[in-house]
Amino acid sequence: MITEEQYINGLGRLLLKKSGLTIDCIEKIFSLKISKDKTNIINKKFDTYILDNKRKNTGSFYTPDYIASYMVSKALFEYFKNNTSLSDERLTSIFYNGKYNLKNNEFQVFLKILKNITIADLSCGGGIFLINYMRLVEKILIINNCDNYMSYLKAISKNVHAYDINKQAINALLLELNIHFEPENEEEIIYFNTHNLDIITSASFDETVPQNGYSIVIGNPPYLGEKGNKNLFNEIKKSAFGNQYYEGKMDLFYYFIYRGINVLNDSGVLVYLTTNYFITADGAKNLRKYLKDNGSFIEIINFNEYKVFKDALGQHNLIFTYEKSKNKNTRITNIEENKKVHSFDELVKFVGNCNNKYSIQEKFLFNERNTIQLYINENHFSIIKKIKTKSTHTLKDFFNVNQGLVSGADRVSKQNYNKKLSQEIIDLYKINIGDSIYVMNKKKSDKFLGKNYLKYFYKNSDINKFSVNENTNKRILYIDSQVELDQVLKNHLIPYKEILEDRREVQTGSRNWYELQWPRIKEIFEKEKIVVPQRSSSNIFAYNDKAFYGSADIYYITSKNLLMDYPLIALLGLLNSKLFYFYLSNIGKKKGNMLELYATPLKHLLIKKLKNEKTIINISRDLINKFNDKSFDQLNQLIYDDYNISQEEENFIENFYNHMH
Ligand SMILES: C[S@@+](CC[C@H](N)C(=O)[O-])C[C@H]1O[C@@H](n2cnc3c(N)ncnc32)[C@H](O)[C@@H]1O
Repeated sequence: MITEEQYINGLGRLLLKKSGLTIDCIEKIFSLKISKDKTNIINKKFDTYILDNKRKNTGSFYTPDYIASYMVSKALFEYFKNNTSLSDERLTSIFYNGKYNLKNNEFQVFLKILKNITIADLSCGGGIFLINYMRLVEKILIINNCDNYMSYLKAISKNVHAYDINKQAINALLLELNIHFEPENEEEIIYFNTHNLDIITSASFDETVPQNGYSIVIGNPPYLGEKGNKNLFNEIKKSAFGNQYYEGKMDLFYYFIYRGINVLNDSGVLVYLTTNYFITADGAKNLRKYLKDNGSFIEIINFNEYKVFKDALGQHNLIFTYEKSKNKNTRITNIEENKKVHSFDELVKFVGNCNNKYSIQEKFLFNERNTIQLYINENHFSIIKKIKTKSTHTLKDFFNVNQGLVSGADRVSKQNYNKKLSQEIIDLYKINIGDSIYVMNKKKSDKFLGKNYLKYFYKNSDINKFSVNENTNKRILYIDSQVELDQVLKNHLIPYKEILEDRREVQTGSRNWYELQWPRIKEIFEKEKIVVPQRSSSNIFAYNDKAFYGSADIYYITSKNLLMDYPLIALLGLLNSKLFYFYLSNIGKKKGNMLELYATPLKHLLIKKLKNEKTIINISRDLINKFNDKSFDQLNQLIYDDYNISQEEENFIENFYNHMH
């Protein structure tokens, strides 16, 4: 047995001292006899668990206390809303404004419900959520002068389930819990149902879940992308559950969402703190479909730049509340301020005072590809709703969208020079870093003059609104499978053969060593088209009907058929309009204020046949010839008219446009 003295070095001791617990009690809590060695192990692990700097590598960020208690109030608010007749106002005053003194009949309702709530945190860590839950329950019991509140607390704690893969976390939780409740004797020690297991792969998980599932699932699961953690996901995939819900490029926390919803009962509430990328990420396609099919988001609080975790740089988070009932509206709060908040009350005020709030029906929350659309605020949403309702087609109904070419070796890069070229070849051909392979300036291209594979080559900065800059000093050797390897070409490329042969497509035999890695279809560069820079600060779409070869950071929109049921130039006018800037800014991916216009979002843009098509085409032609403000204003006016945009909405869009430009 160890003495109290032996406990003095280290964190465990501090807690022991603070709690006033006897070692006996602690032994009970840890359900093991603490020998000297074991104590050290517990202390050390406990210590590293709580203070571990490596936690970033495991995707574990521990929730600040005020956020956890806010989420607990949120879960109880929704649960009581679903399961009692108390009004929203009444529940707000109880759960958010701390007015816990209840009328007698209310208190009886509370007792009955609280005794039956089953609550789980599937990644409890030190137990911040569950401890906050118990603290809140305790407050309610004490303020309402509940006789024998300790026995109620004990009864309620029997329905609390704490899961974690890490045993030390669970130990820490039990200790922390009892430090709070200061049991005076063994009888008063509070236990939860603790489950030390991997909630994704464990075959015994189902046995731990109460028959009716959980009333509340709450937590902050670990965030860990598949990228860089391939082995972990390979292991997970070996389990039935892991395999069932696996999708490429996913995040570990998606499994916690699936599990959480699986175990939630029909009137239950799930509240999670996660990163906010899953609402649009490609690797969360199945997850979003599952979320759409199995219930409703009740609320999403998007924190944007507000830092929930001080030490998670560059991370963006949200809190979402989800229920199994279908077709419920979602309340959205879009936090735009990055004010410092330190307490529950401050957070309630901060979120409450945020002006960017609106409620949205499910059919508008999920857009065409089931990505979840969070608009800036009510005004934005109502205009987008109008654009969507007026639209009759998606862009891909009439047009193809293709990405520009990838040569796989524009020039000799430093990496290729060091890793792929042999010294012998470098010396023989006097190769330097930066030497042109497929891409070169005009002067260097002289030896290819007259060859039909020599093409003008453009950068995405050569694209302006409506028209392109046709003067370029750059050239590319456009070598696809149609081009024969003539002597000039051979002489030019041979020195770089080691680099060219190392490209994946050449290795797999789908390209000759001298061809471009991804030449795409030549036609898209040659024919009439709209070119789009992949990323830009505004909606920049340019018309071009000559050869315009460019790299993969340019997209090419071409008509699908010769009938031209939707004229390309009409589309050009629409895409360049202020209304479409507004639309593009509100949907799809954005990096800061930059629009990201990849092939998939472009293909899925909603469009309509324009009533004023002819005039729009004429004005757009003017703008292709020479951009001028007068014609641009006229164009915008016609587009507003086409979509029945009111004067008030127009002012809103114009202000937004001016503010962003
Ligand atoms: C982000 S931490 C959150 C801890 C706590 N909920 C909080 O917010 O402070 C994630 C926790 O999940 C646990 N965890 C990671 N993978 C797990 C798994 N497969 N099954 C159960 N728990 C897991 C970690 O041990 C860690 O304690």
